[in-house]
Amino acid sequence: MRSRMHPKYYLSPEIFARERRKIFRKVWLFAGLKTLLSGHNAFITRKIAGIPLVIQNFHGELRAFENVCLHHSALLQSEPVGRRPLVCPYHAWRYNQEGQVDNIPDCDAIYRFSEAQKQGLKLREFALRAVGNVLFVNLDEHPLPFEEQFSPEFLQLLESSSSSYDTEVMVTTWHGRYNWKLAYENLRDGNHPRFVHPKTLAKTVRFVAQVNEARLAESTEPLPDSHPTALRREMRRFSHGGASAPITDLRHFGWHELVERWGSQDSYYNWLAFPNLHIASANGGFSFTLEHHIPVAPDRTDLEIYWFSARKKQSYGFSQQVLLAQMHGSKLVVGEDIEVMERVQSALHDDAPVPTQGAYESMNRLVERWYTTLMETEHGI
Ligand SMILES: [Fe+2]
Repeated sequence: MRSRMHPKYYLSPEIFARERRKIFRKVWLFAGLKTLLSGHNAFITRKIAGIPLVIQNFHGELRAFENVCLHHSALLQSEPVGRRPLVCPYHAWRYNQEGQVDNIPDCDAIYRFSEAQKQGLKLREFALRAVGNVLFVNLDEHPLPFEEQFSPEFLQLLESSSSSYDTEVMVTTWHGRYNWKLAYENLRDGNHPRFVHPKTLAKTVRFVAQVNEARLAESTEPLPDSHPTALRREMRRFSHGGASAPITDLRHFGWHELVERWGSQDSYYNWLAFPNLHIASANGGFSFTLEHHIPVAPDRTDLEIYWFSARKKQSYGFSQQVLLAQMHGSKLVVGEDIEVMERVQSALHDDAPVPTQGAYESMNRLVERWYTTLMETEHGI
C-alpha cells in the first residue's frame, strides 16, 4: 500500500504554515503541567505555534495570556518557570488576572492615556483546560469544544493517571532535525522497537505489532465525510492511551516503595494526545516521561521532555538522583528514535519515493487520510 504522505508534507514551508493555521492554531494543545504552577504568581512560559504564552496562577486561578507587553512588545515573563507578578520588566506595566493593565508608572504625566485608552489595554487571553495535572491551551478565538477533540475514555484515563504525578519535575529540550509528524508515525509504529531499541526499551517491554482488520479495511477508503464535525469526530480517534505492552520481569528499585504507584499492571503505559503530546510510563506506573514535540520549522522540532515519578508518599533525599537516572535511561531510547527520524528526514526531497506501508500501519494510515484531507481541501475543523 502506498502512503498518502507526499514528501512535501515534511519539507514545504507553505505546508508548515498551513498546518499551523489549520491544526495548531485550532486544536487544544498541551501547554504545561499544573504541578509547576502552585501558589499565587507562579508562572510558566512557552512558545506554542509561534505564539509566546504565559500561564500564571492568580490566587489559585490559572490564566493563559500572550506573553507580550502591550507597550513595547517585551516579554512579560522571561524565565521558563518562576514566581513573579505579571509586570513587564521594560517599563513596569503591571497586569491583573483579567489581563488588564492595572498600573503604569507615571501614566498621567508622561503617557497621557485617557481612561478609555487605559480600559482598552488588555492582553490576548487563551482558553485553558486542566485534565488532572495536564494543561491544554487553545489558540483559537472560538475554541472547538474540548470534548469534541478527546473521547471521555481518554480524558478519564489521563485525569486519573496525571492526578498521580509528583510535583518534582526534571525538564530538558532536544533540538531535532526532523518534521514533527515523523515522531508520531514512529510512536504509532509498534514494529520499530525491536529493531531500533534492541538493547534498551525492547529488552524489557514486549511490543508486538498487530493487524487490526476493520481499521485496515477502513484505511484504504477515502474519508467518507470531510465536513468540520466529521473531521473532528475522526480526530478524536487519534488520542488514546493505556496499557500497551507487557513488561516481563519488571525491575524493582528501592524508591518504588516511596511513591504511590499509578495502576497495578506490569505494563508499558502509553498516552498519545493528538497532535503532539506523548506520555509514557515504562515501569508500570512508578514514574512517567512526558514528551512534547513542538514544530519549529518543516525540518526542525523541539522536543521538551519532562520526567517525574508518581506522587511521593513523603519526600526523600535522593529523589533528584532518581529523576536523573530516569532521564539518562530515556535519553538513550529517545536518542535512538531521533537518530532514525533525522536519517529519514535527511533522505527526503521533493521527488523522493512515497513510503510503502504494511497492514499493521493502519492507524498511521487513518491519521494520514485525515491529515491530507485537511491539507488539500477547504474544509477545516
Ligand atoms: Fe522508538
